[in-house]
Amino acid sequence: MKPIRIALTKGRLEKDTVALFQKLGFDCEQLINKGRKLILEVPDANLEVVLAKAADVITYVEHGACDMGVVGKDTIMEYGGSFFEVLDLGFGRCRFALAAKKGNDFYGGYAVRTIASKYPNVTRSYFEAKGMDVDIVKIEGSVELAPLLSLADAIVDIVETGTTLKENGLEVIEEVAPISARLIVNTAAIKLRKTEIEDLTAKMELAVRNAE
Ligand code: PRP
Repeated sequence: MKPIRIALTKGRLEKDTVALFQKLGFDCEQLINKGRKLILEVPDANLEVVLAKAADVITYVEHGACDMGVVGKDTIMEYGGSFFEVLDLGFGRCRFALAAKKGNDFYGGYAVRTIASKYPNVTRSYFEAKGMDVDIVKIEGSVELAPLLSLADAIVDIVETGTTLKENGLEVIEEVAPISARLIVNTAAIKLRKTEIEDLTAKMELAVRNAE
C-alpha cells in the first residue's frame, strides 16, 4: 500500500511532531538522523514525511501533493486555503497580539494608524472587524523593529514568551488570537484514504490528550 504522505513545518513543529510520533512508538530513526534530506520514511507506520516551510505545507496539502500536513494556526489564518483542519495538536502554542511601544496611546487621536506585520491578512481582518481603517506595512521578520524605527505605530505579531517585546520596550495592547499547531488533510484524500487517515488522526489525538 502506498504510504500516507505528510508534510511537516520545518523547525519547532517538526520536532514536536517527531516527538509525538515517538510517543506512538513509530520508528523515527530517519526523521532524527535526517541530514539535509527532505523526504523521509517512517517505515512501520507506512508514512512518508516531507519537510517544508509553513506556507508550503498548505500548498502541498491543498494540491494533493501531500495527504496531510502539520502547520501553525498562524499560517492557516494568514493564507487560508481549501483543506480540512482535523486536529489541534496542542503544541506550538503562542498567540497573535497587537503591540506598541510602552505607554503609547494607540487608540488616542484620529490619525490613521500604521501597523507593521508579517501577517497582513490577519492584520486586515482584525481591524476590519473593529471597523477601524489602518495602513498595513508588510515586514518579513523582526517586526518589533518597525515601531522602534517609527515606521509603524504598532505591530501584529506572534508572541510566545513575551521576551522579544519586553527587551525592545514594547507591550501587548490586545490579544488577537491564540495559535497552536494543527493537523490538516487534503479534501480528496480524506475520502479516498479514509481509514488510514482516520486511524493516524485517532492515534495522534490520543497521544495529544495524554500529553494534556
Ligand atoms: C517570532 C515572533 C517574535 C518572537 C516572539 O519571531 O515574530 O519576534 O518570535 O517570541 P517571544 O515572545 O518568545 O520573544 P521569530 O523568532 O520566528 O523570527 P522573526 O522575527 O524573523 O519572525
